[in-house]
Amino acid sequence: MNQETIEAQYQGFVNQQLNLDLTRGKPCTEQLDLSNDLLSLDSMHLAQDGTDVRNYGGLKGIPEARALGSWLLDAPAENVIAGGNSSLNLMYLVLSWRMKQLQAEGAGHDPFTFICLVPGYDRHFTLCEHLGVKMIAVPLLDSGPDMAAIENLVREDASICGIWCVPKYSNPTGHTYSDDVVQRIAALPKLTPTPFLVMWDNAYAVHHLEDQEDRLANLFTLSANEGTQDDIAIFGSTSKITFAGAGVGFCALSDANLTRFERFMGEQMIGFDKVNQLKHAQFLSSPEKLASHMRAHRRILEPKFAEVYAALAPLAAAGLVEFTAPKGGYFVSVDLKRASAQAVVRLAAEAGVKLTPAGATFPYGQDPHDANLRIAPSFPKTEVLRQAMEVFACCVRLASLN
Ligand SMILES: Cc1ncc(COP(=O)(O)O)c(C=O)c1O
Repeated sequence: MNQETIEAQYQGFVNQQLNLDLTRGKPCTEQLDLSNDLLSLDSMHLAQDGTDVRNYGGLKGIPEARALGSWLLDAPAENVIAGGNSSLNLMYLVLSWRMKQLQAEGAGHDPFTFICLVPGYDRHFTLCEHLGVKMIAVPLLDSGPDMAAIENLVREDASICGIWCVPKYSNPTGHTYSDDVVQRIAALPKLTPTPFLVMWDNAYAVHHLEDQEDRLANLFTLSANEGTQDDIAIFGSTSKITFAGAGVGFCALSDANLTRFERFMGEQMIGFDKVNQLKHAQFLSSPEKLASHMRAHRRILEPKFAEVYAALAPLAAAGLVEFTAPKGGYFVSVDLKRASAQAVVRLAAEAGVKLTPAGATFPYGQDPHDANLRIAPSFPKTEVLRQAMEVFACCVRLASLN
């Protein structure tokens, strides 16, 4: 395509005064509808152990919800907390608790520093900024996290107190960590005298997009073998399984940490929403039910991802982008080879297509190459997505001219 054609095409989009959105990594209405039966599951109020879910208490959650959490987190149910509607909130609580605990023990570091893999999940970064945690960015390579770089940093910098990981179908690249990487992460806390915490956000544990599903090694067991079980916290939720705004969040901790964390939570609340926990446990009553429910999600999502790849493939062939085609998860990560990400976002906005801000996938919003963009295909209808991707492709071509 020559410059004139690209400019004319772009002007054509601007004239259409579109209003499209590719930012939102949230389930579409059709996906939410898959779980509507949850809304009518309100006749029971006793949990397996006789707990009246309508009443106060039970900070760790009801047994059947903790069992559901154990399938998602790959950890024993007795180590799982079933919480409220957000795993991100549990991450915030766990990190706050850890920082408070270390300060009380005189073991706190200033600055409290975390390793963040990039590109990564923007809300982990926001959470760190809010809690005053300094972030060091380490690239996710094609083969996964650069473990040699991470191990060197942990050995050399005593202020490093932890790492954020999205180990399966990572947001936004779709990487799943290899067995070797998980093993090395289980051993990471042993490389430093500083108390260390692995924040293992397994948000996309069952969100497959292909028959050949990725398998993730079990961090809970590996850390027990390494003697580092007190140094890991595992998270997940049903946000992208049932209702994104009304699901159940989960967290798995070692026996000792579970007791300590329960005490910390007990200072701020009496219990999470156990009514919703019971509904979820009834609705997703077995691993088989969970798996077939996720296949229904996949049938809705697959054509949308295909739409994104169809638009990106010619750009990749022209050497303008590289992109990931994840086997699961919610995002496609695009690296621009010639254009500035900020320029593409600006051009797209002027043509009526909202993209996730450039830099959002990096700590402090700073992408050193101004190259990475995250595309979220789930929410728009397929026809809308197609149109938005046409605009995106045109913007990349236009921004690549200069
Ligand atoms: C990696 C990751 N973790 C956590 C969340 C949010 O989880 P929750 O809805 O359970 O708070 C998201 C949502 O996009 C995510 O991508």
